[in-house]
Amino acid sequence: MAKKLYIKTYGCQMNVYDSARMADTLAPLGYVETDIVDDADMVVINTCHIREKAAEKVFSELGRLRRMKETRKSDQDKDLSIAVAGCVAQAEGEEIARRAPWVDVIVGPQAYHTLPELVSKLDPSSRRAVINTDFPVEDKFDFLPEEHTPRGPAAFLSVQEGCDKFCTFCVVPYTRGAEFSRPVKSIMDEAKRLIASGTVELSLLGQNVNAWHGEAEDGSTWNFGRLLYALAELDGLKRLRYTTSHPLDMHDTLYEAHANIPQLMPYLHLPVQSGSNRILSAMNRRHDRDTYFRIIDRLRDGRPDLALSGDFIVGFPGETDRDFADTLNLINTVNYASAYSFKYSPRPGTPAANEEMQVDEAVKSERLAGLQQVLAAQQRAFNHSKLDQVMDVLIERPANRVGQKAGRSPWMQAVHFNETAGAIGDIIPLKIVSATQNSLAGEPILSV
Ligand code: SAH
Ligand code: SF4
Ligand code: F3S
Repeated sequence: MAKKLYIKTYGCQMNVYDSARMADTLAPLGYVETDIVDDADMVVINTCHIREKAAEKVFSELGRLRRMKETRKSDQDKDLSIAVAGCVAQAEGEEIARRAPWVDVIVGPQAYHTLPELVSKLDPSSRRAVINTDFPVEDKFDFLPEEHTPRGPAAFLSVQEGCDKFCTFCVVPYTRGAEFSRPVKSIMDEAKRLIASGTVELSLLGQNVNAWHGEAEDGSTWNFGRLLYALAELDGLKRLRYTTSHPLDMHDTLYEAHANIPQLMPYLHLPVQSGSNRILSAMNRRHDRDTYFRIIDRLRDGRPDLALSGDFIVGFPGETDRDFADTLNLINTVNYASAYSFKYSPRPGTPAANEEMQVDEAVKSERLAGLQQVLAAQQRAFNHSKLDQVMDVLIERPANRVGQKAGRSPWMQAVHFNETAGAIGDIIPLKIVSATQNSLAGEPILSV
């Protein structure tokens, strides 16, 4: 009988992609995914270490799973296997094994292709997890089996892993390891398989996706812009996106791609973190605010309707009212369609965590609230600017509200509309009839 696998994913899109890939690795062992945790024979939690709150969730989740495992054992004499994957597993693997001895498997983001081997070593009587948090010399993508289930109309595809930038606040270079670019063929093959299974929109993923520089089949090295051009040639691929990009890795071919490739959607997530040159330098971002403005001007020259998104950190050590005002000023200059913002969270092992000039929690909260108010107003204004327009919407799934379907605009806005319009995977024109901060409502255009 099939064994049931439940995967809970925290963190970024790369983790979402990895979770699907982990399910692929376990499918040959007879594991079938379920949405119901109580049905599961194995639970994988795919974790995020980026901020303290994210990492803390893991231990409370593990507490719940321990109770579930014990109840199951006493009521049904049935085992539940528990695996911890992702960035907390990488950063705190040994601590998890010590603090949560009921965990069976611990696997890092670069080692999950070894899951079948780890799972086959499972010994329910053991009081010690099997751990693999190596950064193997081999490329995990060479060992992953093909996708087991279709990924749907809009799918993620990781092309780049890790990070060499070492921003002083960030754990990613430690949890995901050194920057690595998948070779062209491996990416193209996966893209073709996804398209053949019904995917029409691909989001290319990487912690610094535009730093990708992969080996082509003729032995030459391509840059990321070139990869976009090659993917745009694939029959059946209607939309392309990528995330997350770093300002330092913008390059000529990529600017040209935004101007010239119709499938490349007019939306870019380009985090800047702060608008203060002093703070940008302390963060080791290695560019200043004017460089960021120039990048955006050049992108908008080629694609005037480009919508921008970003990430911001408030309360980085040493941030003054003046620095914060510079961030607000940058936000007002750029005008974002959407953005994520966070209070600085000191992370063990990162340089900024040892800075003496930590900002008061109350000040952080106040600045975050101020910043989010400005960003929310920009997002509302952006969404309202689409009222009465007709736009193409990719239908992704049934909406949460009964009788409706949900999709995405070219600018990443969530759009909902009557379920009688189109089929999942179609791209249909809709007229936008209402807008809120978080979504749009559309109506089909009646053909005459
Ligand atoms: N590679 C991406 C971001 C990865 S992490 C980039 O370079 O832009 C996602 C976001 O989390 C970051 O952009 C940053 O805004 C936020 N973040 C990272 N470390 C953080 C920390 N220690 N405290 C608060 N926010 C953090
Ligand atoms: Fe973290 Fe900076 Fe690398 Fe982004 S570029 S993953 S913020 S170290
Ligand atoms: Fe979190 Fe790891 Fe992604 S720390 S943001 S899951 S790379």
